[in-house]
Amino acid sequence: MNTASPGTLPAEAAVTHLEIEPSILYFGTPVVLVSTENQDGSFNLAPISSAWALGQTVVIGLGREGQTAYNLGSRPDLVISLPAPAQWSAVERLAPLTGRNPVPSTKPNGCRFEPDKFAAAGLTGEPSHLVRPPRVAECPIQLEARAERVRQDVSGGFAIVEAVVRKVHADSRIVVPGTDHIDPAAWSPLIYNFRHYFGLGPELGHSYRTQTPRSSERPAAEPALDGTVPN
Ligand SMILES: Cc1cc2nc3c(=O)[nH]c(=O)nc-3n(C[C@H](O)[C@H](O)[C@H](O)COP(=O)(O)O)c2cc1C
Repeated sequence: MNTASPGTLPAEAAVTHLEIEPSILYFGTPVVLVSTENQDGSFNLAPISSAWALGQTVVIGLGREGQTAYNLGSRPDLVISLPAPAQWSAVERLAPLTGRNPVPSTKPNGCRFEPDKFAAAGLTGEPSHLVRPPRVAECPIQLEARAERVRQDVSGGFAIVEAVVRKVHADSRIVVPGTDHIDPAAWSPLIYNFRHYFGLGPELGHSYRTQTPRSSERPAAEPALDGTVPN
């Protein structure tokens, strides 16, 4: 096993690339917790790492037979809550659980039905403003949204959901005071990197389009939510 810190492999003139066939291609994307409404009016919660934003739309990839995909097919409201790195163990408590009963045969061994995933994870449901599924109170960013399109992917095994965000809630400690900007020095997503959890490392630089000031141009920030002092 490689013991170097992530991203610090030495730059070498002649790097050897191996041809490999990994079973999964989870190359490091943020984890979100998706709340949806079950048929009986109760709520489901599932960790998802295949999620990315395109303007005000969040595109989500879901296993076709999971309860989340099932719910969104008929009840399109959802909340996308983003946990901080310190919350990885609550996320992992959800990993072997499904809201689908009976458990589909396509679920991995050890997966079991759980009707109250909020309680099982030790997380708290908080009422949303525009949709029925609750937000996850502990998550610093919560997006109320509606699935405007749900379609099958090319393999047939997944559903691709286009969810349009209708309201954004952000913990006041990660918002640049007096603005609508998330402070990137105070917020870190929880990253799922080939089935291991990471936070972000120190900032390397920023886009020419950033609308938030450089860290050296503003007063010292509060400690980040994961307990580290932002750079
Ligand atoms: C960190 C993490 C990321 C995951 N990402 C996805 C994903 O992107 N898409 C997916 O369908 N399942 C993903 N899963 C697996 C689902 O959470 C799992 O299948 C769960 O049983 C779904 O719950 P549901 O059947 O109640 O919807 C992920 C699990 C974990 C722990």
